[in-house]
Amino acid sequence: MPNTDTLAINGGTPVRDTKQKPWIRWPVNEEEEWEKTIEPALRKVYLSRAEGLPAINGSAFGEGFAEYCNAKYGIMMPHGTDAIMAALAGALDLDGIGEGGEVIIPNFTFIATASAPLSMRCSLALVDADPKTFTISPEAIEDAITDKTVAILPVHVCGHPADMGAIKDIADRHGLKIIEDCAQAHGAEYNGQRVGSLGDAGAYSFQSSKNLTSGEGGCLVTNDEDVRDRAHAFKDVGRRPGGARWEYPRLGWNYRTSEYLAALLLTRLPHLDEQTNRRNENAALLNEGLNQAGGLIPPHWAEYTTRHGYHLYMMLYQPEAFGGRARTEFVEALCAEGISCGPCYTSPLSDTGGLKSIADRYPDQVRRLPCPNIEYICGHNIIFSQQTLLGSADDMQDIVTAVQKIRDAWG
Ligand SMILES: Cc1ncc(COP(=O)(O)O)c(C=O)c1O
Repeated sequence: MPNTDTLAINGGTPVRDTKQKPWIRWPVNEEEEWEKTIEPALRKVYLSRAEGLPAINGSAFGEGFAEYCNAKYGIMMPHGTDAIMAALAGALDLDGIGEGGEVIIPNFTFIATASAPLSMRCSLALVDADPKTFTISPEAIEDAITDKTVAILPVHVCGHPADMGAIKDIADRHGLKIIEDCAQAHGAEYNGQRVGSLGDAGAYSFQSSKNLTSGEGGCLVTNDEDVRDRAHAFKDVGRRPGGARWEYPRLGWNYRTSEYLAALLLTRLPHLDEQTNRRNENAALLNEGLNQAGGLIPPHWAEYTTRHGYHLYMMLYQPEAFGGRARTEFVEALCAEGISCGPCYTSPLSDTGGLKSIADRYPDQVRRLPCPNIEYICGHNIIFSQQTLLGSADDMQDIVTAVQKIRDAWG
């Protein structure tokens, strides 16, 4: 039976009254956990007076997170952006002074994927994505390679792994390094292997919206000891791991982190798997319900994906299923029904302010290749955020009911 209720956007009753039934807020901070776990951990750092070096918690978190990612080494960083910079410094042996060569990145990502290589004096080639997974297209990578190319920087965007098998094959054939941008992909798996451990180095973010957070934070993971040593030097004023205080064999900066943040991350890491599983279970419910409602194409899983990270649940809006209404109208209508949603990246990264101005000022530094798939994805994507997927099955049903209600009214 079609739902004939008036849409909330037209003055009707919303499917979900968010005052009565609020959505889960992120991070999931609870008084009880503060008392039992967080406060004692922060208190311990405070009373130890070791709030920075020798970074006992930072090292323990790096090790624990590396293990979580099936990698040998982990280095905690202040942000995901500088974790990418450290990964480039480590994998390509860059000192940030000499020219770094060209790095191929997807043109559908957050600005840090571009700004990190630029700040290591690498130029950029921005290429198209796969139309289904939204991750970098291996064919587009192959087409973009020149004799200046030094590395590929795939992004596991939204939490779906990039096609690492195909990317590795290309990298091996052309002698290129692979740096994985895992900022949106905590716990995601490619053929059973956690992302970040599949290339030369991986970079994670723990910024406040991320699926594991310390407000701000990051981590580099790698299986390569030399990469680890160079990344360590980048972070800790050129020092060797375990080296003497006044010895700086390389040029490095200070990207060390506070022990309070490491202590906080150590308390949260044990919850990551359970939360990732919950997001996956709820996403499966949503996929089923939305497929039945029609009009929104749920996230696609490539065959190689054994677990999604679900930082973003990204769908493609089909206007024809909603009487040709624009995406903005649909988003307004769904938000009015009490379901928070919105578009994510709405233009290819190369067409956004910061990068456009760099391309205008330094045309040799930014090369944009044809991106028809990304243009389509930018024009049609709508997301639910990761915390939405931490709700109950009933929450997922509210989403489906609201989409169905709008379909019935406009379809
Ligand atoms: C794909 C991607 N790369 C890199 C970053 C940078 O991380 P941070 O904000 O911790 O520097 C983010 C998130 O902010 C991101 O989404």
